[in-house]
Amino acid sequence: MIYTYIQRIGLEVFTILGATLYSVWRTMSNGGMLVGDCIVVLSSISSISFALSNLIQNLAEFGEHALFLEDVRYFLDYTPKILDGEKELPAKPNALEIKNLSFKYEDAKTDTLKNINFTWNRGEKIALVGSNGSGKTTLVKLLLRLYDPTSGEICLGSDNIKEFKVDNYRGLYSTVFQDFKVFSLSIKENVLLRATKNGDDELVSSALKESGIYDKVSTIKGGLEAILTREFDDNGVNLSIGEQQKLSLARVFATDTPFVILDEPSSALDPIAEYEMFENMMRATKGRSVIFISHRLSSAVLADKVLLMENGEIVEDGTHAELLMKNGKYADMFHRQAENYLGREVCTNE
Ligand SMILES: Nc1ncnc2c1ncn2[C@@H]1O[C@H](COP(=O)(O)OP(=O)(O)O)[C@@H](O)[C@H]1O
Ligand SMILES: [Mg+2]
Repeated sequence: MIYTYIQRIGLEVFTILGATLYSVWRTMSNGGMLVGDCIVVLSSISSISFALSNLIQNLAEFGEHALFLEDVRYFLDYTPKILDGEKELPAKPNALEIKNLSFKYEDAKTDTLKNINFTWNRGEKIALVGSNGSGKTTLVKLLLRLYDPTSGEICLGSDNIKEFKVDNYRGLYSTVFQDFKVFSLSIKENVLLRATKNGDDELVSSALKESGIYDKVSTIKGGLEAILTREFDDNGVNLSIGEQQKLSLARVFATDTPFVILDEPSSALDPIAEYEMFENMMRATKGRSVIFISHRLSSAVLADKVLLMENGEIVEDGTHAELLMKNGKYADMFHRQAENYLGREVCTNE
């Protein structure tokens, strides 16, 4: 790309110099200018001004594109902070144990996670709840080894997860994050996130059914082959945010990884649609270990275990029923949310 710019800029400088030198030479050698020379000089002036404006535009573009090059250079020079281990994964991954884990972001003054302890048993469905900023997303990022703990450890079976090869370890997980992405690819490719092969249609259709968007997809011209977004295709399909979220969720159902993490996968859905989605999710992930994060506690009713976070700590844990009995912070939050929904229902009935 740099060479193209240099070539274009060089060509324009050459044109300008050539036109100027020719005019000077004609004037000097003839001791004056003929009508033909005037025409040549005028057309040279117009060429010069055109070439100059092109040159300025190219230099400006070059400056703009150099900023992207800087990003590419930064990316290529980046050395990962998460170091690879040597061990192969156990054939059948066991429980994940989180022991006295604390974590501080590099630029933060205080710990974002403080002394977290819990066990994520095989096949267990954990609801991770708590207000915004309490540390839920940070905690699951540590489980995925996107960051390493500042102190404490995360163990898979008897091994610290740092012992394993990072890519293999992360391959144990399917995730949907709040800031999910939909790509300018076919619906099928968006679900599989890999090259497609024969026999994929059935897998993708059943994943779309589980996430509750199959009916919508079957009304779209092209079905599973339809291209999403208009970024590269004028006939591309634009889905609503709720539909995109369901499509991202289908990615989880199209895999069979032992661990699943869903970080607010239903924030764009209404409470009833969210509850239905969680019921489907429970059925479709049978036997898999799932952590789901939601700020609506109705979904926590379905979980095997609820962890309530506040200011980077787990302040309550137990089943939904146990936490209601305890009548503590979780029970208080649950009742307040229920009242809110009942209140809304009264309003809509009026
Ligand atoms: N990359 C980061 N660098 C510094 N602080 C962060 C970063 N990401 C999140 N935080 C801070 O960590 C705290 C917990 O955030 P987060 O884990 O996203 O909470 P939650 O998911 O419960 O809303 C917040 O105070 C947030 O501002
Ligand atoms: Mg979050």
